[in-house]
Amino acid sequence: MYKEYKQEEHWDGHYRKKDNVVLNYDGWLDKYIDIFPQNAKIVDLGCGSGSDTDFLLKKGFSVCSTDFSEEALKVLKSLVPQAKALKVDLTEKLPFEDNEFDVVVADLSLHYFEWVLTKQIETEIKRILRNEGIIIARFNSDKDYGFGADNGKILEPGLRLVHGRTKRFFSEKDIDDLFTNWKIICKCENITERYLKAKAYWEFAAYNRK
Ligand SMILES: C[S@@+](CC[C@H](N)C(=O)[O-])C[C@H]1O[C@@H](n2cnc3c(N)ncnc32)[C@H](O)[C@@H]1O
Repeated sequence: MYKEYKQEEHWDGHYRKKDNVVLNYDGWLDKYIDIFPQNAKIVDLGCGSGSDTDFLLKKGFSVCSTDFSEEALKVLKSLVPQAKALKVDLTEKLPFEDNEFDVVVADLSLHYFEWVLTKQIETEIKRILRNEGIIIARFNSDKDYGFGADNGKILEPGLRLVHGRTKRFFSEKDIDDLFTNWKIICKCENITERYLKAKAYWEFAAYNRK
């Protein structure tokens, strides 16, 4: 791993800023709720301040909310006091049993890593998700020019060093290469206005195949 670019400090600093102590759910999960099993057990990987967690809890699901930033988890607990928060670093073996979850949500949290590690995370997600369980994730698009898709040093294909941080910008082929044995529900490029600038992203949802 590019250890020199470990990013906890950046994210701790991010969540210490008052402006980032907010929930800004933009509705992207709404359309999937109907395909979740009743009482689905969900893990939110890289939950941040808890926008998705808050939405899912309000829909009555059981959610385990994880992030490696202690500050993110503090913000989560302040904004969503009922959240079950767990410190988890995605670059390590995930601290969950095989087949533990019905749904994995990973909203803009899987695009910071070199390819080998990104693939390792996909394998771990497969392991903790039951057969026919659902992954729903969003990734930086390679057209996300407002957030660095065309600047910074290229460290490996798709991975850039942007303002001292590693960021991956996904093409459609990257999404296909990452998720090779899944039954696709949705793979689409879109734009969210949840930040100060428009952000281009890939959305991916699929059933697990074991
Ligand atoms: C762009 S934010 C998205 C937060 C949240 N999912 C949302 O959409 O509101 C990315 C999140 O990924 C987390 N993250 C980055 N690298 C991580 C890692 N190695 N392990 C766990 N979380 C990580 C950050 O702390 C941050 O909360």
